[in-house]
Amino acid sequence: MEALAVAHPNIALVKYWGKRDSALNLPREGSLSLTLAGMESVTHVAFDGAFAADELVLGGNPAPEASLRKARRILDEVRRRAGGRLAALHARVESRNDFPTGAGLASSASGFAALACAAAGAAGLDLSPAELSVLARLGSGSACRSVLGGFVEWKRGERADGTDSHAIAVAPRDHWDVVMLVAVVAEGPKGVSSTEGMERTRRTSPYYEPFLGSIPADLDAARAAVVARDLDALGVVMERNCLRMHAAMLAAEPALIYLRGGSLAVIERVGQLRSAGARAYFTIDAGPNVKVLCERAGADAVESALAAVPGVARVIRALPGGGARVVDPLA
Ligand code: PMV
Repeated sequence: MEALAVAHPNIALVKYWGKRDSALNLPREGSLSLTLAGMESVTHVAFDGAFAADELVLGGNPAPEASLRKARRILDEVRRRAGGRLAALHARVESRNDFPTGAGLASSASGFAALACAAAGAAGLDLSPAELSVLARLGSGSACRSVLGGFVEWKRGERADGTDSHAIAVAPRDHWDVVMLVAVVAEGPKGVSSTEGMERTRRTSPYYEPFLGSIPADLDAARAAVVARDLDALGVVMERNCLRMHAAMLAAEPALIYLRGGSLAVIERVGQLRSAGARAYFTIDAGPNVKVLCERAGADAVESALAAVPGVARVIRALPGGGARVVDPLA
């Protein structure tokens, strides 16, 4: 019983930063993202009576215990749903990313979305996109959005069991000819995990509640801007939402400083490009790299300007991508 699945990272345009239930990764508020093509996680899952324990191999190396614990939440739920003989089998999971892990490029999102998809496939479960999204959410919250392609909203849901907290499609990948340029400022894992960072922000930041309070209006505005393909309206919302999240992080104790000098240099350059007439807008997650959204027509000029910013190691260009899917290992 085995399956191979592929999933892509997604970048939040309206952020998820705050849980109402940490065991189930239920968010305080909804979020909205774009799934990217061109970077991927490929994950193989096998359930077999020969395995003595669940095993997770990331990029050829045994994964840290914390990642294995998250993967097990997904595997346990798949075993529970499948029942029968499979309920007693351990799994071996092997996952690879073709982009930097743990640097705010949402490798956990693509990794857990691919894992959910491969594990359900290996177990022979026929899940709806919403059920697959709930399953991926157990590994990491943002992974529930990578189950779908294009522009995606994660509905916060109301139920305590989380069955209504999953991704829904806002617009398909071919709805809008946009490009996401990832200005890589630093590669390598981030200092404080998103789980710990969210908890610290909740406990200590005076800006946590105001940030969360601003999200419903941002979500409405961002959703409408995506539907209308209005880059300037979307850009205003995505930048303010990201900066408010970082303001809440910076005000935590001890402060969560994910931004580096290079991140600020890219922000400044994006502002200069806009003053010169370009249409480009930034967002930054829990890491130093800056993602810049623009339309395909103006992307070349923005890309070369970002590549020339001191502190930027390279720029990755990503187009809107598809959702998680099981693939044929021989294809
Ligand atoms: O899903 P997690 O636990 O990796 O958290 C993701 C948090 C952000 O990337 C900062 C925001 C988001 O909505 O993706």
